[in-house]
Amino acid sequence: MSTAISPTAYNYKVVRQFAIMTVVWGILGMGLGVFIASQLVWPELNFGLPWTSFGRLRPLHTNLVIFAFGGCALFATSYYVVQRTCQTRLISDSLAAFTFWGWQAVIVGAIITLPLGYTTTKEYAELEWPIAILLAIVWVTYGLVFFGTITKRKTKHIYVGNWFYGAFIVVTAMLHIVNHMSLPVSLFKSYSAYSGATDAMIQWWYGHNAVGFFLTTGFLGMMYYFVPKQAERPIYSYRLSIVHFWALITLYIWAGPHHLHYTALPDWAQSLGMAMSIILLAPSWGGMINGMMTLSGAWHKLRTDPILRFLVVSLAFYGMSTFEGPMMAIKTVNSLSHYTDWTIGHVHAGALGWVAMISIGAIYHMIPKLFGRAQMHSTGLINAHFWLATIGTVLYIASMWVNGITQGLMWRAINHDGTLTYSFVEALQASHPGFIVRALGGAFFASGMLLMAYNVYRTVRASDPVEAEAAAKIAVVGAH
Ligand code: HEM
Ligand code: HEM
Repeated sequence: MSTAISPTAYNYKVVRQFAIMTVVWGILGMGLGVFIASQLVWPELNFGLPWTSFGRLRPLHTNLVIFAFGGCALFATSYYVVQRTCQTRLISDSLAAFTFWGWQAVIVGAIITLPLGYTTTKEYAELEWPIAILLAIVWVTYGLVFFGTITKRKTKHIYVGNWFYGAFIVVTAMLHIVNHMSLPVSLFKSYSAYSGATDAMIQWWYGHNAVGFFLTTGFLGMMYYFVPKQAERPIYSYRLSIVHFWALITLYIWAGPHHLHYTALPDWAQSLGMAMSIILLAPSWGGMINGMMTLSGAWHKLRTDPILRFLVVSLAFYGMSTFEGPMMAIKTVNSLSHYTDWTIGHVHAGALGWVAMISIGAIYHMIPKLFGRAQMHSTGLINAHFWLATIGTVLYIASMWVNGITQGLMWRAINHDGTLTYSFVEALQASHPGFIVRALGGAFFASGMLLMAYNVYRTVRASDPVEAEAAAKIAVVGAH
């Protein structure tokens, strides 16, 4: 049985590798999420060791879910979408392979260094300088492969999904390189090139746009390909997609200061960030509406197609979290929500409801096509996964809303004589039931990922390499 790659076929090998690793890192990252959520319920789980403490495992969780799980999903889908919509193979197999192995090396670097306590201390940019440099090299190579493939496309126009992927790749490179400027003092310690309020502003310019371009723009690229494909309907409005693309990327870049309300940052900068965040609702909802309306005439498919359900429910959570975000950016609301679990709830409405659900839907769509099968091994298991993910997300965010508002109100309650009504520990005790519900919701979500792994394993095992290559070949000739 030959597995030789025909020169007319797409490079599906790298897509398969990234797709499989999305599931693997998803299980590990979310499993770790459940573990740190359990540490907040039962502090004994810190085991009294530095490398298993909450403070070190929390950044490992965020790096694994954002960069390992989310990153692999973005690599897999962007390589798949750019080839199919440009009707051409990736420009270089070896550069694409380098991005795969380089990215996995960055993740392994995170798994080793973060529990050992090596960190820049900047949130979502914790990786120390040798790993950060490797990440930058991999990312620039990714840009070369992606844009190189676009330049040799066989189609006349550039499909809108690629616009979103393209903006995500360019802006992520800019953010990572600027925010990581630092002075190394040893192999695993460096100091930021910026200081004071400037350092804080650059960090949250990075942090917010990591949300805006990594966790949003890239996934909108995914949405623009997989929602129309799975619904078998054209995008609702091509014009709306272009308008909300330009509005989204123009506005996001200004909203970072909403992370620094009531800090040493100049007041005008805080107000500017607040205003831009409120306006950001419009282009965010432009994307949500465009995705939802694509289902016009195809709503009945939701009854039988759990993959489409994943994609549509992800859009509903996207709409919800991009309504909640602008509201939390209003200074008076932020004075209640900041430092509380409300922020954590908002994060996971976006992270579980939007980012994870759209990725899961896209991976279920791609796997059979990548491995030459007509469909996934079991639709029933996808359906069970859908319900575990949806119920898990709702339990997570509802418990965090209750906790967040409870904490905010208890912290600000003041007696007639000006003393605090509640001690910090009393607010913590009041949060305990919410922590239990959150850990339960997380366990629901993570167990759905185990069903996915089994379903993917059975689909891959039944695949025939010759048929898989034939699928890649036919796709070049056929329509995208
Ligand atoms: C089973 C699923 C998950 C569970 C149980 C979980 C649990 C947690 C917990 C307990 C924290 C720390 C909260 C705190 O400090 O009070 C956290 C933080 C975080 N998680 Fe997750 N998580 C899950 C999935 C995800 C996914 C899929 C993503 C992203 C795609 C994500 C992104 C984040 C981020 C960005 C933070 C930091 C939030 C902040 O600093 O405000 N999580 N998670
Ligand atoms: C219009 C869109 C959005 C706006 C205006 C917005 C606004 C905000 C605000 C005001 C905060 C709280 C800052 C604080 O008090 O510290 C926040 C935190 C956060 N948001 Fe959003 N949000 C939006 C969409 C999203 C989406 C879709 C996601 C995820 C996919 C997301 C992920 C996060 C994360 C990870 C944090 C926590 C950052 C940290 O403190 O570590 N946001 N957002």
